[in-house]
Amino acid sequence: MIIGVPKEIKANENRVSIIPGGAEALVHAGHTVLVERGAGIGSGFDDEAYRQAGAVVVESADEVWARSEMIVKVKEPIAPEWPRMREGQVIFTYLHFAASEELTRAVMDSGAVAIAYETVQLPTGELPLLTPMSEVAGRLAVQQGAKYLEKYFGGRGILLPGVPGVEPATVVILGGGVVGSNAARMAAGLGARVVLMDVSLNRLRYLADVMPANVTLVYSNRHNILTQIAQADLLIGAVLLPGKKAPHLVRREDLKVMKPGAVIVDVAVDQGGCVETIHPTTHDNPIYEVDGVIHYGVANMPGAVPRTSTLALTNATFPYALTLANKGWREACRGDRALALGLNVVAGKVTYPGVAEAFGLPYTPVEEVL
Ligand SMILES: NC(=O)c1ccc[n+]([C@@H]2O[C@H](COP(=O)([O-])OP(=O)(O)OC[C@H]3O[C@@H](n4cnc5c(N)ncnc54)[C@H](O)[C@@H]3O)[C@@H](O)[C@H]2O)c1
Repeated sequence: MIIGVPKEIKANENRVSIIPGGAEALVHAGHTVLVERGAGIGSGFDDEAYRQAGAVVVESADEVWARSEMIVKVKEPIAPEWPRMREGQVIFTYLHFAASEELTRAVMDSGAVAIAYETVQLPTGELPLLTPMSEVAGRLAVQQGAKYLEKYFGGRGILLPGVPGVEPATVVILGGGVVGSNAARMAAGLGARVVLMDVSLNRLRYLADVMPANVTLVYSNRHNILTQIAQADLLIGAVLLPGKKAPHLVRREDLKVMKPGAVIVDVAVDQGGCVETIHPTTHDNPIYEVDGVIHYGVANMPGAVPRTSTLALTNATFPYALTLANKGWREACRGDRALALGLNVVAGKVTYPGVAEAFGLPYTPVEEVL
C-alpha cells in the first residue's frame, strides 16, 4: 500500500504521524511511505532520517494526498486539506467529528474512509489512542503548575518539594483517571504532599494499591473538595464524564477559600473544565488570574512537548497503521473490533452513532459497511 504522511498545518502543531522507525517497518513489510518535506522537523526528525528509513520524501502536500491510498495524520484535516481527500482513500487520524459539522460533511462528500483515533476502543472501554496524550498532559500539568507557582509568574513562590526543614507544597488533584494518576505520580515523585480525589471507590482502592505513600486518596464530594482546595498550592483538574461536559466541581465563590497565588491547572478544559472560572488558553498566553488564583487552561497541552508526544502517540497508533496497511481497512476492521469502532465515516455514510446524533444524520451500523 502507498501510505502518506503530510506535514501538519494546524497552528502550533508540531507532531508527526509516523516516525522514521515506523516508516522503516512499513517499508520492510513491502509498503511505500511518502513523507512531505519537513513533516517531522517539529518533532526532531529531519527528511534525511526518513530517507534512510526507506521512505520517499516528496515536495508538496498535494503530491502526498494525490498518490497515497492511506493518509496517516495527527490532527483532523482542516479546510485547505479538504479538496485533497478522495473516494476510497483511508484517513487515519484524530477527527473529533462531533465538534464540526463542516468537517463531517466535507469527509462524507469526499467518499473517503475516516478512522478516528479517539473512538478506537478496547473491550475494557479503554481508548488506547487517547491514553498516551492523557499521560503526557497529566505529567505536564505538574511541570507547568510548578513553574507558575514561581513568584515571577504571580504564584505563591513555593517550591513543590520544599527543602529539608521546609514543608513541601500540597497538590490536590480532582479525578484519578489517566491524567490524574499520572499527575499524582509526578507530583509525588517530586516530593509534594499529594491529595488525589475521585468518585469511584473501585478506582480509589486500585490507586491506594499503586500510589506512593505521599499520595492520600480522598472521596470526591462537595464538602471534601472545599476542605482540600483550601490547603492546595496547586490544584489540577482531571475529571471526565465520557461524552459530557465536565462538572463544575470548583465554583467561582470557592476561589476565596484558596490561598492567594495558588495555581489551578485544569486539564479538563477541553471538556469545559471542572473549575467554573477556567477558559481555554494557548501556549503563547497560557495563564490568567481570577481572585488572586492563577489559572492555566491550555487545551492542547501535549503540543508543548511535541517530541515526547509524537513518540507516545506513534507507539500507540503504529500497530494499527501497520495492520491497516497489511490487510486493507475492511479486513483489518473485520479482524479487530477495537479498530472497527474507529470507523466514523465510510464512503459518505456515518458509521459512528455519536456523530450521526450530533448532526441529525442517518446512521449506518459498522457491520453494514464491513
Ligand atoms: N488539556 C489537554 O491538553 C488534555 C490532554 C489530554 C486529556 N485531556 C482531558 O483531561 C480529562 C481527563 O482525561 P482522562 O484521560 O484522565 O479521563 P479518565 O476517564 O481516565 O479519568 C477521569 C476520572 O474522573 C473521575 N471523576 C468523574 N467524576 C468525578 C468527580 N465528580 N470528582 C472526582 N473525580 C471524578 C472518574 O471516576 C475517572 O477516574 C478529559 O477531559 C480529557 O479530555 C486534556
